[in-house]
Amino acid sequence: TCGKAQTMTMTETARQAADRPDALDQEISRRRTFAIISHPDAGKTTLTEKLLLFGGAIQLAGQVRARGERRRTRSDWMSIERDRGISVVTSVMTFEYGGNVFNLLDTPGHEDFSEDTYRTLTAVDAAIMVIDAAKGIEDRTRKLFEVCRLRDIPIVTFINKMDRETRDPFEVLDEIEKTLALDTAPMTWPIGGGRDFLGTYDIETGKVRLMNETSDDHNDMIGDNALTDLLASRNMDHVAEELELVRDGCNPFDLGAFREGTLTPVYWGSALRNFGIKDLLDGLARFSPPPRDQAADKRTVHANEAKMTAFVFKIQANMDPNHRDRIAFIRLCSGKLTRGMKVRHVRSGKQMGLHTPQFFFAQERHIADEAYAGDVVGLPNHGTLRIGDTLTEGEDLTFVGVPNFAPEILRRVRLEDAMKAKKLKQALQELAEEGVVQVFRPVDGSPALVGFVGALQLDVLQNRLAAEYGLTVGFEGSQYTLARWIAAEDGKQLDEFLAANRSATAEDVDGDPVLLSTSGYALNYVRDKWPKIRFADIKETQ
Ligand code: G4P
Repeated sequence: TCGKAQTMTMTETARQAADRPDALDQEISRRRTFAIISHPDAGKTTLTEKLLLFGGAIQLAGQVRARGERRRTRSDWMSIERDRGISVVTSVMTFEYGGNVFNLLDTPGHEDFSEDTYRTLTAVDAAIMVIDAAKGIEDRTRKLFEVCRLRDIPIVTFINKMDRETRDPFEVLDEIEKTLALDTAPMTWPIGGGRDFLGTYDIETGKVRLMNETSDDHNDMIGDNALTDLLASRNMDHVAEELELVRDGCNPFDLGAFREGTLTPVYWGSALRNFGIKDLLDGLARFSPPPRDQAADKRTVHANEAKMTAFVFKIQANMDPNHRDRIAFIRLCSGKLTRGMKVRHVRSGKQMGLHTPQFFFAQERHIADEAYAGDVVGLPNHGTLRIGDTLTEGEDLTFVGVPNFAPEILRRVRLEDAMKAKKLKQALQELAEEGVVQVFRPVDGSPALVGFVGALQLDVLQNRLAAEYGLTVGFEGSQYTLARWIAAEDGKQLDEFLAANRSATAEDVDGDPVLLSTSGYALNYVRDKWPKIRFADIKETQ
């Protein structure tokens, strides 16, 4: 859908200029790396297109064609995903707008709860939360928001579909504040809603942006007096009262609180009608942070350090049927990546040459000659890189915080051909390292369990085992329904616990201990009995 990526290749002079430290600083500070979080159908795809449109990264002949095409492309992707067993494609879209370079990390569009989406959120510095004005906060938005909160990711809110029947705007804000415990600061305010949606009032400037009836280009701005006349002519005097309430009663925007993730600026609009996007994008450019400091095991890494550091947040297999390769997506945390540079793969201690780093843009890829902190680059690899791995220019440090989520579904794998057990073990190990499935090997030697965060993952695993390893498998239930990572401050306590619970303990792919439990009730029982042991449903690299 998204057409050609902008070329990221720089001219020779620009490249030399960027080698100066102040130029490095400048390149990094204009990066804005973000994702969109929302519940399916709230308008993420539409908003993505419109953001790219503003960034000049795509040109659409007209809305109708664009929508038709989008529908086709999406369903094509779904069938490809199904046929090839690709879980979901998370790509990166880069566009420039107002002097900033925006990296929009796309997250899967299907409804399944996905670990990939969550890990993608470890690679962004801000998020746009899209809410359907008629529906308010929905389930998936809340879950994704909780992940953002864990990392204090600043959130900009876009209330979409104002051109349709909506809920009362105050009610929507109230719901955000109550269900997410997040303060709101309206930056614009809707003038009417549904068929009466006339535009938005800008709280900072007092100007009104009117939605143009005949075209989607809507730059008509009017002042206060004109607004009063307009409202009177439409019998919409209640809006004037609303505006007064907003000016007096709502939180003012506070940059510090936003950056700490405790307050969200709120914009209103209609992605479909192209309305409110510019204000949103301007807000993102103005307020959202440049690449943030990243916590590593030995120290905090600052984005504008000269030396390059990065971590792997996602691995994607079979991106392209013609290249049966795996791509490891890295997020640059500091410095500058240059094509051909040698880096240290910290987990193995080995050196790697970055010969073909790639920028991805929707479904296209380009060789990346250079990239800066904040950027996301794909590295072709054959299994060396794992999720959570760190790359540096030599320093021995590991970024922390790339999460694994406790599975919501546990199964045993039933192998059609029992002679292939060894091959299955190898395949599961590889796919677990890639993050497709979690594998738990009981310490008492009984057969391994596989864990999934969403039901779609079962199909993906089954497809990939068949297509890539020639293994036909089915799944069967297990007595265990829950898995929790076990940890304790006191090593002795932990050993005691493991010895006493040997039959319900397993190891994950990294060899970390996991408690298997038959029910929430049973888990609580163990918790009460062992108050000094932690049973975590999220494990982060450390
Ligand atoms: P998603 O990626 O979050 O799942 O949502 P998507 O953008 O696909 O939008 C879901 C539906 O909502 C689409 O309609 C889309 O056209 C519509 N939509 C998005 N933004 C707005 C808006 O601002 N106003 C109105 N009225 N509708 C909006 P659909 O008919 O389900 O899809 P399609 O057939 O148009 O592709």
